[in-house]
Amino acid sequence: MADMKKAFVCGHPIAHSRSPKIHGYWLRAYGIAGSYEAIDVAPADAAAFFAGLAQKGFAGGNVTIPHKEAAFAAAVRHDEAAEAIGAVNTLWFEDGALVGGNTDAAGFAANLDEHAPGWAGNGPAVVLGAGGASRAVIQALRERGVRDIRVANRTVSRAVELADRFGATLSAHAVEAVPELLSDAGLLVNTTAVGMAGKDADGPVADLARLPRHAIVTDIVYVPLETPLLAAAKRRGLKTVDGLGMLLHQAVPGFERWFGRRPEVTDQLRAMIVADM
Ligand code: ATR
Repeated sequence: MADMKKAFVCGHPIAHSRSPKIHGYWLRAYGIAGSYEAIDVAPADAAAFFAGLAQKGFAGGNVTIPHKEAAFAAAVRHDEAAEAIGAVNTLWFEDGALVGGNTDAAGFAANLDEHAPGWAGNGPAVVLGAGGASRAVIQALRERGVRDIRVANRTVSRAVELADRFGATLSAHAVEAVPELLSDAGLLVNTTAVGMAGKDADGPVADLARLPRHAIVTDIVYVPLETPLLAAAKRRGLKTVDGLGMLLHQAVPGFERWFGRRPEVTDQLRAMIVADM
């Protein structure tokens, strides 16, 4: 079909990506003649892969680890979030030019909007971790006007780099400071791999004893859905939001750009992904 739109997700490895299931679900749900395929791209081939997208007939695609910085370099223009984060997870064409965006920040915010409305006004935020995922979360917090963002990381120098990048709303801390940082916090976000299935670190990433009763706890890890951190927060009776919604919501803007319809994050979509875990 000449008018069939094609999109992709590229990464290395890519076999475990859930993106084909999400976009495949929407293509079927809306009866759109399009395709979305997973492509394993070795790091050495990333630049050539991005350069050849138009010729291969792609309308655009998603980019995951380890190609988000290479995608940023390949795009001729970036949206504001990609510019702030320094990484691209969504590519599309505008007037023949490859444009790179980052939808992780919007996905993070949309997940909290859905499950913990009013979250941005809940008080200071503590962010655990200082990698790529942390940058997206910090961007979302800044966009939503969170004034006091406290980043704690095992390697403090990486948190300090983020404070330099994002400026006055952000402070950098060692993990030893976390209990104290939590004592007046309204939001705790884990962006580290701690708690992820298959990783050796399996306890909760932080001691929640001092977190106020009104605090919201969220994890961007979604396998397992209930991480040790979220389980500990639930035991304390705190509001928790799992990370799956961020994955689902970050997919929305790309689908809309490539296939021309804004898709909905439904309970049925969520249930389908959960059933597959
Ligand atoms: P991502 O893009 O997923 O954020 P990353 O850039 O590799 O990935 O960052 C991983 C984050 O998880 C970092 O903050 C890392 O801490 P370091 O900067 O000190 O490496 C954190 N992390 C990973 N494993 C951890 C562990 N066992 N304990 C504490 N922090 C950990």
